[in-house]
Amino acid sequence: MTPRVRLVPEPRSPRLVRREMRDRTELLTEAVGALPPVYGERWLHVGERAYRQFEPGRSKLSAGLVRGWTGPLPAPGESWLYLGAASGTTASHVADLLGPEGRLYAVERSPRPFARLLALAERWPNLLPVLADARAPRGYAAWVGPALGLYADVAQPDQVAIVRTNAELFLEGAGAPVVLALKTASMGRERDPAGHLEAATRELASFVDLVPSVRLDPFHRGHFLLGGRLRGGAGGPPRSLRPVTRAARPRARRRS
Ligand SMILES: C[S@@+](CC[C@H](N)C(=O)[O-])C[C@H]1O[C@@H](n2cnc3c(N)ncnc32)[C@H](O)[C@@H]1O
Repeated sequence: MTPRVRLVPEPRSPRLVRREMRDRTELLTEAVGALPPVYGERWLHVGERAYRQFEPGRSKLSAGLVRGWTGPLPAPGESWLYLGAASGTTASHVADLLGPEGRLYAVERSPRPFARLLALAERWPNLLPVLADARAPRGYAAWVGPALGLYADVAQPDQVAIVRTNAELFLEGAGAPVVLALKTASMGRERDPAGHLEAATRELASFVDLVPSVRLDPFHRGHFLLGGRLRGGAGGPPRSLRPVTRAARPRARRRS
């Protein structure tokens, strides 16, 4: 007899579920795409639905959830912008959370992981890869529609500045979710991780109302998950900065 599987949806993002095991809790996302696994993650089929294990050792967002992230999460039907998508490990889970009606614009500048991201998008129809440098968002404005939320994991010294320029250009306005996976090792040697966290928090707090950050050790050493909601005033992108027309958006999604 198949054992009954009890999955508890996360109220902030119902396509994210917790599975209570005897000795631990697993996180899973309801898959938008089909098998095979994206990065070797386990799949679980319950009735008509397929769920993918969201591994904290592989994804900083999952690690943040395990470590108690209380901030905003992607939810069904929303459009998000993802900076530093690499080959799509976390991006595939974010796309799962957005669901088939949502949309994820996934920016990556390195051709090699981008090729894998493109292949993934063939199976994940709500994932829209963009080959571009996140430091120059005007260069991809024609391929990215207004977004409700922003997730960034670029591992660069100026990661907060990159978030800010993209938030100003693409986010819908005050209250928009902003989530940053901060890699302190990319921020130079003048400070220790706590010092980098403090500096990044100060910079981010100038335009985001922050929730408490979480430390991602032991899953990702020297990393933190930061974010909250875009502040009113610093807020919504000026309309003049949005060259995207509704007609141009759906098909013109790839730069390469
Ligand atoms: C830590 S990895 C991202 C891992 C990925 N987010 C995940 O969890 O599956 C950082 C990625 O950001 C990309 N990146 C770094 N700087 C970038 C930039 N300026 N624009 C776009 N992508 C960038 C790198 O090429 C790399 O693939």
